[in-house]
Parts: sequence; structure tokens; C-alpha cells
Amino acid sequence: MIGNDINFASELLKTGNVVGIPTETVYGLAANALNVEAVLKVFEVKNRPHFDPLIIHVSDVSEMDKYVKYIPDVLRNLAEKCMPGPITLLLEKKEIIPDLVTSGSPFVAIRIPSHTMTRQLLQKCDFPLAAPSANPFGYISPTTAQHVEDQLGDKIPYILDGGPCEVGLESTIVGIENGKVTVFRKGGLPVDTIENILGHPVELKLHSSSQPSAPGMLSLHYAPHKPFYIVHDENEWGKVIKNNEACVLRFDSFLPDFPVEKQRLLSIKADMKEAAKNLFACMRELDKLPGENIYAELLPERGLGLAINDRLRRAAAER
Ligand code: TXA
Ligand code: MG
Repeated sequence: MIGNDINFASELLKTGNVVGIPTETVYGLAANALNVEAVLKVFEVKNRPHFDPLIIHVSDVSEMDKYVKYIPDVLRNLAEKCMPGPITLLLEKKEIIPDLVTSGSPFVAIRIPSHTMTRQLLQKCDFPLAAPSANPFGYISPTTAQHVEDQLGDKIPYILDGGPCEVGLESTIVGIENGKVTVFRKGGLPVDTIENILGHPVELKLHSSSQPSAPGMLSLHYAPHKPFYIVHDENEWGKVIKNNEACVLRFDSFLPDFPVEKQRLLSIKADMKEAAKNLFACMRELDKLPGENIYAELLPERGLGLAINDRLRRAAAER
């Protein structure tokens, strides 16, 4: 059931249920992070392997201190400047956070979502919310309540509807490795914004399919059901035009000589923020259209374009 009753959602969470919640990044599948049985339900609903840990969500920086041992100065600086917002920090957890949440790691991923409704919800709960993206494991993340309803509606009692997600990409995951600030997942907060705040470049450590319990993620992710391909040049687009089974995802201009109803544009204004906001919804729409394959172009490799391209490449990864 979809609705906007924050009190009802908080009652369900207090009694160990799983609830779909809006955030500025993507919709989450939330449970009381301190209740192991509730957290187990999250893994079950999502069909997610227990080795892939969950992010916990809290309402403010002072709440963070309850669940982590300490926040190194560089990360506290980032927290103060970027939270609430689309950033997740990896910090050493206190005992109170169950090992199930972190898949046995001494570090917990923690963030403060900026969505007003979810902040109100968090204030009503005296526990943090463990919430992965509210999609079946491996599929595209949901950016509307209806996306959650379509795939998980029969498995959860309630989805809190906070409208379409403003950012549309998952949070950027940041931690410290070998003494250096390291980005483990590109996301809604661009890496260059983080570097500007810090005043120096960060390390990037993405992809860890060989070691999926390590920070980061599996390489096959964000994948539509249809085979998904990246198109690199005009020659390749020329072949797509002749392909009756093709559906097309482009940045700011339609593919000429190809039916517009089989195409989606991320941003006609070539605006990266708008493109990020539209990305997952467009991928879902193309997945439902007639036609067997999806062909997509990459965006310029800067700012949010880097995180968007990361999602496109993962969608196109070998299955
Ligand atoms: O924007 C977001 O981060 C959304 C919203 C709902 O908050 N959540 C989200 O969760 O994207 P999920 O579970 O789909 O992705 C979380 C990623 C996973 O790749 C996981 O491996 C990594 O974060 N992660 C979680 N806890 C971790 C930990 N303790 N150490 C290393 N990586 C962790
Ligand atoms: Mg996810």
C-alpha cells in the first residue's frame, strides 16, 4: 500500500516491519537497524545476499555519534558541509550495530538523508533505519513510490510516498583507506565537489566483484531485464537505426531517423542534475517498451556525468 502517513510508517517500523521510504537519492527498504529480525526481513524481501551490507540512516550528526566510535576530522568536515545530503560515510561501528547490518565488517555505512518526510520519520523513531535501495537485488533502483510498489508491493505492508527523488542516484560512499580519503561508490554528490571541500584529490576504489563483501559493490548492478549496450560512435548508432528491436536512451538529443516513442532523453537541456534525476525512471520505461534491447550513450565524463556513466556501464556489464 502506498500512502503518506508518517505516523503509520513509524508504528510499522517500531513493531519490526519493513517499510518503503523516500530519500533524495532513491527509495529505500527500511527496517529498525538495531532489530536483527527486522533487518533479516530486508535481506529476504530484496533477495539480497547477507554478504552485501546495508547503509544506516540517521536524522543528524549527533545521532551518528551514538552508532560510530569516532569520526575522523576530515570526514567530520565533509559531514558538516554535505550532510544531510547524498553522501554516505564508512565509520568504525559501535557494538550496538548488529554484525548482520555490516556483513561482519567493523565499519558501518551511515548517512543523513535530506528528504523532509524521511527526516520527520527518523525523528519519530528512536533507532536508526537500515535501508538498501528498494529494488530486487541487481535491478535498477526505484525513484518513485510506484517503482517500489511495482516490484515489492506484495512483500511489504507500506510505502511512504515522498514524490519522485530529487537526486535520482544513490549516495556517494566515502571512507578512509590507508590514511587517504577514498570514494567507494560514485553517486549523487559529485567527486569534484568533495575534492573542492577537502582541497585535494581523493582515491577512487570502485568495483569489487571479486571481493563483494569489501566496500563498494558488485559489478552487475542497476541492470534492466533487457540486454543493455553502450553505443560509442555514429557508426554504431547507424546500426541501431536499422534495428527494429532497439530502444534508445540518449542524453540531450533524439537519435535521428528512429521512432521517438522508442527513445528516452535524460535532459533536453543537457543538464546533468536533470539527467541524474531521470536516469532510473527512463531505464525502467525502456525496459517495459516493446523491443528486445536497450542502446545508450555515455554522458560527458565530468561532475554527475561520472556517476551516471558508472550506472550505465554497470547496466551493460556481462551477465
Ligand atoms: O542513496 C543511497 O545510498 C540509498 C538510499 C536508500 O539511502 N541506499 C543504497 O543502499 O543505495 P544499497 O544497499 O543499495 O547500496 C549500499 C552500498 C552497497 O554497495 C554496499 O556494499 C555498501 O553500500 N555498503 C554498505 N555498508 C557497507 C559497509 N559497512 N562497508 C562497505 N560497504 C558498505
Ligand atoms: Mg542498491
